[in-house]
Amino acid sequence: MPRLPAPPLPKVLQPKPKRPGQVPEKLSPTETAIEGAVTVVDWIDERTSLSGGLRWMLFRKVPKGINWFYTLGSATMFAFLSQAVTGVFLAMYYKPDPDSAYSSIQNITEELTLGWLVRGMHKWGSTVMVVLIFLHMARTFFFGAYKYPRELNWIIGVVLLILTMTMSFTGYLLPFDQRSYWATIVGVNINGTGPLVGPYLSDFLRAGPEFGATTLSRFYAIHMLLIPGAIIALIGAHLYLVVKLGTTAPPWMRADRKPKESRSEPVDAIANGAGGNGSAP
Ligand code: HEM
Repeated sequence: MPRLPAPPLPKVLQPKPKRPGQVPEKLSPTETAIEGAVTVVDWIDERTSLSGGLRWMLFRKVPKGINWFYTLGSATMFAFLSQAVTGVFLAMYYKPDPDSAYSSIQNITEELTLGWLVRGMHKWGSTVMVVLIFLHMARTFFFGAYKYPRELNWIIGVVLLILTMTMSFTGYLLPFDQRSYWATIVGVNINGTGPLVGPYLSDFLRAGPEFGATTLSRFYAIHMLLIPGAIIALIGAHLYLVVKLGTTAPPWMRADRKPKESRSEPVDAIANGAGGNGSAP
């Protein structure tokens, strides 16, 4: 993979030139705070070399012609982050048992400071995330980004899509009102009609043959522990592959005319826009 020149250090990190015999200047409180923060970052970096990884991730070539559609993946990620943050606050007050689930949600919405806002953000945020993930998938599909060598990233994306839909499904039951209760029974029954694994999946979701008190705690555990954990791990793998393979150029960009020998370049070089697919930077 061709190496990019190291980006210049931000101004705040650049050491000020010192002349021989110069008396050290007195720093203002803000400068002292900045120096302190820089020292802490330096201390961590010296022991972990994390800045190398960050530079690898953030300073990379992108092809000509990229546009706003390329922000849909990041937008989906931020929607997920917002769901994670608001979900943590909701979990502090939500009670996952059939007798108190509904009243705990009422308490969040009507009594707690800004509870209505946090709950509203989480509820509407789930719809936003679903819309964004479909738009992002459509972008990668219509731009041909699922083709070699990015098939694995497409497959990871499909699993992320299924997990996101399962998040919506399991979250829908949690308010435990009439609508969410009956809608979830319908959803679980539809699952049960699936071939081979369908009935087992339904039993797993219901936590037994009947819809009962443990169904709610099972949905809650799946919703706030199992799936978010899997989504975080898969987003990590997804982004690793995006950085490793580079971004696909828009299909209307023409490939640079190259001498014949460049056609036999290794995958890394092709993925980084040196040939094929018009992704030359
Ligand atoms: C939680 C869900 C997801 C997140 C957070 C996410 C995030 C991202 C980000 C940040 C990028 C790089 C920027 C961009 O191209 O937009 C990307 C690229 C990509 N994503 Fe996703 N994604 C998700 C779901 C999906 C789904 C459902 C698919 C398809 C089934 C998919 C397939 C791809 C592919 C193939 C690329 C490479 C695009 C290229 O090389 O041009 N992703 N994703």
